[in-house]
Amino acid sequence: MSAQQQAEEVCPATRPRRFYDCTLNEKLLYTSFLLLAGAAYLMAIAYLYTSFAGIDGKPGLSVEDVAENYYGNRSGTRLESALRGPMASYIDIEQRNHVVEWLKSGASESGYDSTIRPIFAKRCFGCHSAASGLSVPDFTTYAGIKPVANVDTGVSLHSLMKVSHIHLFGIGLVALSIGLIFRFALLPAWFQHTLTLLPFIAIFTDILAWFFTKWDPHYAYIVVIAGAVLGVAWAAQIGISLFQIWFLKCRVIPGK
Ligand code: HEC
Repeated sequence: MSAQQQAEEVCPATRPRRFYDCTLNEKLLYTSFLLLAGAAYLMAIAYLYTSFAGIDGKPGLSVEDVAENYYGNRSGTRLESALRGPMASYIDIEQRNHVVEWLKSGASESGYDSTIRPIFAKRCFGCHSAASGLSVPDFTTYAGIKPVANVDTGVSLHSLMKVSHIHLFGIGLVALSIGLIFRFALLPAWFQHTLTLLPFIAIFTDILAWFFTKWDPHYAYIVVIAGAVLGVAWAAQIGISLFQIWFLKCRVIPGK
């Protein structure tokens, strides 16, 4: 007898467990967890919104914000955009051109000492120095100006690795927990299998796309789409589970 035949004989022909087979205690446990997970998800969305919205200088959350977070704004530095934006009134155009030239040529320390510092001393140190008492960057030293004079390349690879391993472990466990509950749902098999796999695929794609976005900002669309797929898949798993836990009744077929 082959191994497969053996297995067929030993395996009893049972139907899978459904929500209506669960004890009240299980139902309470699943319901509490699903509600908590739903609340946590909404909180995560609110947090994402507040930390990403407006990165690109425009209000609201957009794909550009996501792109700029990972890819950065490579066309310039924070110093240049400040001089063209909020700080424009403190400098005249000729001086601004000197600063921009210095930035484009690599923002060296010698250039700072010879041309930039004298301009800033007249125009900026009133506020941008420790003496001013304002909580704005101190530009009286090269070390102080350096962080706003570098090309803005977005989140560093190192912090991306940190955030992604935490997300892969953490969200993976949440997806597993929701999926373990959702397996009791009574649905067409293909639909249930798809919905079970979807969050894992979405999480993996989303996080992979962070790294791709660092390389090419167009991948920000994938980040947003994968995030949306995760949200829809979880909403469906949680919604269907909660509904079936409390409303789906076992239908007794007469004669069986
Ligand atoms: C009257 C005070 C004042 C003067 C003068 C001033 N700034 Fe500012 N600066 C601020 C304040 C306040 C902020 C922070 C608030 C903001 O970003 O609008 C700021 C922010 C900045 C930032 C953004 C810092 C960051 O972390 O992104 C840069 C760059 C900057 N200033 C450059 C300059 C330069 C260059 C000059 C001189 C040409 C200058 N500022 C003159 C008050 C001043």
